[in-house]
Amino acid sequence: MMVASLLPTRARSTTEAVASVNQTHFAASDLIVAESLGKAFAARTGPVQALSDVRFSIRSGEFVSILGPSGCGKSTLLLLLAGLEKPSQGSVRIGGKLIDSPYQAAGIVFQDPTLMPWRNALDNVLFPVVMTGRSPAKYRNRALALLKLAGLTDAIERRPRQLSGGMRQRVALCRALIDDPVILFLDEPFSALDAINRDEMNQFFLDLWDRHHKTAVFVTHSVREATLLSDRILVMGTRPGRIIADIRVDFPRPRGFSLSVSGDFNRLCEQLRGLVQNAHGARQSPGTGS
Ligand SMILES: Nc1ncnc2c1ncn2[C@@H]1O[C@H](COP(=O)(O)OP(=O)(O)O)[C@@H](O)[C@H]1O
Ligand SMILES: [Mg+2]
Repeated sequence: MMVASLLPTRARSTTEAVASVNQTHFAASDLIVAESLGKAFAARTGPVQALSDVRFSIRSGEFVSILGPSGCGKSTLLLLLAGLEKPSQGSVRIGGKLIDSPYQAAGIVFQDPTLMPWRNALDNVLFPVVMTGRSPAKYRNRALALLKLAGLTDAIERRPRQLSGGMRQRVALCRALIDDPVILFLDEPFSALDAINRDEMNQFFLDLWDRHHKTAVFVTHSVREATLLSDRILVMGTRPGRIIADIRVDFPRPRGFSLSVSGDFNRLCEQLRGLVQNAHGARQSPGTGS
C-alpha cells in the first residue's frame, strides 16, 4: 500500500472530517466502545465540562492515538476508558462489558514512570506481581525477556536513579506488560524525554508493538509521534473536549526512521497540525476549562 489514506485529499476540510466522526458505527469486533461520553468536574466557578459526547470504537489489536492540545481532555478520556474515573454521561464498554471500576486487564504508563526508588529495574517490573500476592519467581523469566527486548539486560540490577529518563520509562513499559495485558493505556509516556531519547523510545516502542501487538490507546500532543506509531488517530478539540476527526494511518509496518522523513509522512503531519490548530481555536467560551 502506498500512503496514508487519511483525509483522502488535501482539500478535504475539517468540517468533513468532523462529519465522518459523527457517523460512527459499532461492529462486533470492537474491543473498546465509548458511547456519548461526557465528564464534568466541579470547579469554584461552576461545573467544567471537560468532555462532551465523545463516541468511538477501537478494534482489537489497533494502535490508536488520542491527539490534541494541552487541556482538551486527553488524560480525562484515558482515565475513563481505563475505568479509573467515572463518566458523568455515557458509557465505556470493553469486550461488551460495562466499565464501572478499574479495568483489570490493562497495562498503564503515565508520563512519570513512578518507579520505586529502592527497587532495582527487575524488581520494579515484578512489582505488580508482588503487590497482588503472587510469586515473583514464576514471572522472573518473563520480566527478564521484556527487559532484554527493552535493551536493559545490563541494567536489571540498577536502581531508578542509576538509569536515564528513557531507561526508566522503558522499565515502566516492561512493568505494564508483565501481566500480558489486553490493552495498553499510555498517557504522554515519552513527553518528558529529550528529542533524541524520544526518537529512540518511539523506535523501541514500535519494535515492542510489532512483537506483542497489543491494543494500544496512546495519548500524545505530538503530531509526529502519533503519525509514526498509530493505525488511527483521534483528534480532539477543546472546550469542551470532543473528537473532531478520526484519521486512518495506513503506512506499512514495520515502520522506522525512513518513514518519518518521507514526503507522505510529512504531508500527513502537516494536515494533522492544521486540524489541531483549528481545534485549539474552535468553540471557545469564557469560563469553561483552563
Ligand atoms: N480532577 C479534576 N478536577 C477539575 N478539573 C479537571 C480535573 N481533571 C481535569 N480537569 C480539567 O479538565 C480539562 C481537561 O483536562 P485533561 O484531561 O488533563 O487535559 P489534557 O490531558 O488534554 O491536557 C482541563 O480544563 C482540566 O483543567
Ligand atoms: Mg494530560
